[in-house]
Amino acid sequence: MSTDLIFRARKVVKPQDLNARNTLFGGRLMAWIDEECGIYCACQMGTPMVVTKYISELNFQTPAYQGDVVEIGVATVDVGRTSLTVKCVARSKLTGRIIVSVDRIVFVAIGANGRAMRHALADNLKRERNKVRKLEKTTV
Ligand SMILES: CC(C)(COP(=O)(O)OP(=O)(O)OC[C@H]1O[C@@H](n2cnc3c(N)ncnc32)[C@H](O)[C@@H]1OP(=O)(O)O)[C@@H](O)C(=O)NCCC(=O)NCCS
Repeated sequence: MSTDLIFRARKVVKPQDLNARNTLFGGRLMAWIDEECGIYCACQMGTPMVVTKYISELNFQTPAYQGDVVEIGVATVDVGRTSLTVKCVARSKLTGRIIVSVDRIVFVAIGANGRAMRHALADNLKRERNKVRKLEKTTV
């Protein structure tokens, strides 16, 4: 499981993304992060039916300005039975300076009944662990 951030999403800061101070509105950035992490988790968990369960504190480190290109990186932190936990960083594409970082965002796969459901990545992981266990037993 790689914990390296993968930067896929890029956004240009437009006039409608600004707050009263003319810097990037934090709520807009949170929405971008939620969306990007949700897409990442849906791909990893093998289902589009995922919901945001938990977001740890966000550390807004530097402002972004109109015209800045913001890139958003996501990495897996933990794989659960029905959940996937990721971390996320948004940074300036031009300078690399970090705008905000989030240590833990938890997404949960849900079934048609709206309840938490086991996801494909958990199944794959369980299969891999079983293989390793079998190998360990035969190589004592
Ligand atoms: C997601 C939801 C179905 C989960 O219901 P629930 O009764 O909490 O389900 P569970 O207790 O079985 O927990 C599901 C998973 O979430 C994890 N979880 C639950 N509460 C958590 C919390 N506070 N922090 C981190 N993870 C949490 C559990 O560990 C479990 O993961 P695992 O199966 O990988 O171990 C329900 O809380 C819900 O519908 N929430 C609203 C989601 C939403 O509307 N989001 C915003 C829009 S996307």
